[in-house]
Amino acid sequence: MLIDNHNRKINYLRLAVTDRCNLRCHYCMPSEGIKFAKNKNLLSIDELKLLANTMVDQGIDKIRITGGEPFVRKDLMELLRYLSSLKGIKELSMTTNATLIGPHIHELKALGITNINLSLDAINRDTFEKITRRDQYDTVFGNLMTMIEEGFNLRINFIVLDNQNVQDVIPILKLQEHYPVSVRFLEEMPFNGGSKNFETITWNYKKILDYIKSHYPDLEKLESPKTSTSINYKIPGHTGTFGIIPSFSRTFCGSCNRLRITATGDVITCLYGKPKMNVRDILRGENPEMHLRTSIEKVIGQRAKTGFDAQREHQGVFENSMTSIGG
Ligand code: GTP
Ligand code: SF4
Repeated sequence: MLIDNHNRKINYLRLAVTDRCNLRCHYCMPSEGIKFAKNKNLLSIDELKLLANTMVDQGIDKIRITGGEPFVRKDLMELLRYLSSLKGIKELSMTTNATLIGPHIHELKALGITNINLSLDAINRDTFEKITRRDQYDTVFGNLMTMIEEGFNLRINFIVLDNQNVQDVIPILKLQEHYPVSVRFLEEMPFNGGSKNFETITWNYKKILDYIKSHYPDLEKLESPKTSTSINYKIPGHTGTFGIIPSFSRTFCGSCNRLRITATGDVITCLYGKPKMNVRDILRGENPEMHLRTSIEKVIGQRAKTGFDAQREHQGVFENSMTSIGG
């Protein structure tokens, strides 16, 4: 079992399989993209398998596949087939923009990978195109509907962006009114590939909640798991639920059970910290399993207590882009 230096059990690995994305969301990267990693620096599927297998043996029982956009990676399904066969994994899930998932929906269901978090910051084509700089709304919406019909456990992540998509906050709640999905509103975070840094945000979780309450005053707060990022609510009479994620306010660090590994093998022990080590050379060297185990244990023993502490440890952490740290 992996226990950190603040006595938190670490059982959740967020594994990024690529830093590339086929969208160009304003809050994530500039229109020309960022300096993406060279292919030779990405962990291969065999390296990802070895990494996952070793860490599951160490006590990881939940893996979320992230990116970039995971499906940009052509060999992704091979990895998912392998991970879904690992006995020690209790939950295998993905975060995706749902532009490329269409051809894989049936196989994902057959593999039991039905916990999908879908990033969607708009509920109309215009807003979607302005934020993502791409014309993919219809594809995303079509895939969303197919996954609802197929009974996937869907959570829709909507980042509330001042002056960009606030007008969509109430309309997107229609999805959870009619379908058994969760719509989660996220605070913006200051990672966008190096050109933005901020100390405060306009739409923090309290303001988002007050805004929704002004339309739906009779909210019911739901019990959520201790490690949940979202504070969850039910609107009476609605089929699904909604939630708010204080990702910038960082109210859930006390129960943080997660570790991130980027597509190039950087190990990030806190979302707001810099990488603590890289596992690529270890995976490519002699006796990788043994070295991996000891190195992972070591960095887990040196974690910052909160995202604010992690931020203070480093200058320039916001030069990272969400697309390389996997959210
Ligand atoms: P679970 O895996 O079920 O816990 O879902 P999740 O909410 O962690 O996953 P998802 O990939 O959907 O993350 C949604 C958003 O939550 C991210 O884009 C971040 O804004 C925020 N978030 C996720 N993990 C962390 C974290 O460790 N710290 C902070 N501050 N925010 C996080
Ligand atoms: Fe964990 Fe850091 Fe996120 Fe807090 S900000 S929940 S410590 S990863």
